[in-house]
Amino acid sequence: MSFLSFPFPVSLKAPAVRALLLQLLSFVIVVAGVLLFWRAAGQVLPVWLLAILQGSIAATLTRWRAMASWWLPIQLFFAPALVLVFGWQLPSWIFLLAFLLMLGLYWSTYRTQVPLYLSGQRVWHAVNQLLPERPLRGIDIGSGLGGLVLDLARRRPDSRFFGIELAPLPWLFSWLRARLRGSSACFLRGDYQTLDFSSFDVVFAYLSPVAMPPLWAKFQAEMPVGALLVSYEFAIEEHPADEIHQPIKAGPYLYVWHKH
Ligand SMILES: C[S@@+](CC[C@H](N)C(=O)[O-])C[C@H]1O[C@@H](n2cnc3c(N)ncnc32)[C@H](O)[C@@H]1O
Repeated sequence: MSFLSFPFPVSLKAPAVRALLLQLLSFVIVVAGVLLFWRAAGQVLPVWLLAILQGSIAATLTRWRAMASWWLPIQLFFAPALVLVFGWQLPSWIFLLAFLLMLGLYWSTYRTQVPLYLSGQRVWHAVNQLLPERPLRGIDIGSGLGGLVLDLARRRPDSRFFGIELAPLPWLFSWLRARLRGSSACFLRGDYQTLDFSSFDVVFAYLSPVAMPPLWAKFQAEMPVGALLVSYEFAIEEHPADEIHQPIKAGPYLYVWHKH
């Protein structure tokens, strides 16, 4: 079974769920180790050492399960951070604030499997160079902090650029940036999967491998002939790109598909 249905559907394959399961497995191993050590030496190890063990085992298991590399520090430092924070006896509202901050930033990441990480100026420059000369409408699906959309709107005043973002805080941040700069960039809050792509000439995506096959289907079904799909870092296995660029030396590729 790959789904649990309580209290809402949770995929057991979702990285956040796998990370949690690995923390639980690590906890079981640490508890077994504590019991063995207690029977052998009649002593209990200090909590800080147990937390370091918990983190190290969780990180090792995470590497063994070949999860994305950014999970390693999260898994490694999660238990030690908890011990530190509880040791400082911080007021409880700090936990609520931290939780709300993470929720605002990462929102449905457990479902979409696309967390917030950012492209940069060299990628934006490469995307700008790909754009046709004529006035056009472009959108960054999963626009994060809005950097690409604001950059293109500044470079191409003849065209209209949009961003759509699911997570509330990045959306709010990019919306405010556009207002403060007087930019023509437009930021929508929502799920790009429910957006009709037919009015766009260019769709830019910096998502994840799992997002690519459904995105290809949407590109084929909705976008007009001559439109471009641009994906940073993530290719589509069954559909080789028409163009491949490398904006950063030895960095990820920028894939481009033309709608025929
Ligand atoms: C890797 S970041 C890319 C940010 C930005 N495009 C850039 O290039 O810097 C991906 C973003 O997509 C957002 N996202 C993931 N799934 C989404 C969806 N279905 N609809 C809208 N945004 C989504 C995430 O919240 C995250 O901010």
